[in-house]
Amino acid sequence: MISYRLEAEGKMSRGSLVRMEQGALSEGDTLVRVLYSGINYKDALAGQGKAPIAKSLPLNCGIEAVGHVVESTNPALEPGQAVIAHGMGMGVARDGGLADYMRADSEWLVPLPKGLSLLEAATIGVAGYSAALAVDRLESLGVEPDNGPIAVTGATGGVGSQAVAMLARLGYEVVAVTSKTDAGELFRTLGAADVIAPPEASDRMLDKSIWAGAVDTVGGDVLAWLLRSAKAEAAIAAIGNAGGNRLPTSVIPFILRGITLTGINGNSPPALRRRIWERLGSDLRPPRISAIARVIEPEEIDETMAEMIAGRTRGRAVVAFCGG
Ligand SMILES: NC(=O)c1ccc[n+]([C@@H]2O[C@H](COP(=O)([O-])OP(=O)(O)OC[C@H]3O[C@@H](n4cnc5c(N)ncnc54)[C@H](OP(=O)(O)O)[C@@H]3O)[C@@H](O)[C@H]2O)c1
Repeated sequence: MISYRLEAEGKMSRGSLVRMEQGALSEGDTLVRVLYSGINYKDALAGQGKAPIAKSLPLNCGIEAVGHVVESTNPALEPGQAVIAHGMGMGVARDGGLADYMRADSEWLVPLPKGLSLLEAATIGVAGYSAALAVDRLESLGVEPDNGPIAVTGATGGVGSQAVAMLARLGYEVVAVTSKTDAGELFRTLGAADVIAPPEASDRMLDKSIWAGAVDTVGGDVLAWLLRSAKAEAAIAAIGNAGGNRLPTSVIPFILRGITLTGINGNSPPALRRRIWERLGSDLRPPRISAIARVIEPEEIDETMAEMIAGRTRGRAVVAFCGG
């Protein structure tokens, strides 16, 4: 079998395409033949030696994959069944999805929901799953389309663009917040009502109340701005830190406007995963999924990761394995 395998290089890791024995894969009760594996920024950091992502080395890279069950000790899984795998330490603490085969723990595998092909599920990937989780959380906190506009920050990113599309599809008035000035056409296609730039940082504790809810992928000053410009009883889902880890805010939005700040962790437990993926195959199914997929060969992984680190890629790079 082939894999994009991480080896130790100083304090970091460096990936390359290698041949390995299937018997050397890290343990798991289910063997999966991988058809597609989306490349995430975290994979690129590990593969290109930019951050110490892997907890043990050598290790197959890749935090997600989709494919078919080959064999499982869990009788609930049939050989040939189509499954989705992400999180559970893949590409970090156990062999990940950028390989022809992987071993997984069956309880974490999600059966491919009706309404999605394996390529579509791989294109949605961890980014789309996390966006759907945030949308689902806002709904559970009482944010409804009639409540007012919803902001999505880092809106051109993998998470942000899918959150915009899902919220628009559900009938929300979505405002895409982006630092890219040429992204208007993209957001019109995705159904956003408006596109704005993130504001300058400010020390104010409250601003005019605008947002009934928000999905924030940026953190830092951008999340602080969302909090001080949220309407009474609004909910804001913090999902990412593309703009920094700090949160320079005050308690004032919480105690004067009753704002809820809720955290999103895509490594959610099995029952929640299955429910969210069911929604991704039905009411949250992003429109025109195939248009954002860029299917590449395993030989192109390294070059694609380098492009991602340099910020030159758009859409989702999905690697076809096993002739997928
Ligand atoms: N919680 C979870 O489980 C989970 C799951 C997946 C991802 N994430 C996190 O969510 C965030 C977004 O992920 P993604 O896959 O959408 O990433 P991405 O495709 O690289 O997009 C990130 C976007 O953030 C915006 N941004 C704003 N300030 C930035 C800065 N200083 N540096 C870089 N980008 C900046 C940019 O959008 P604009 O140019 O449009 O402003 C950029 O396109 C990341 O922090 C990621 O780690 C979390």
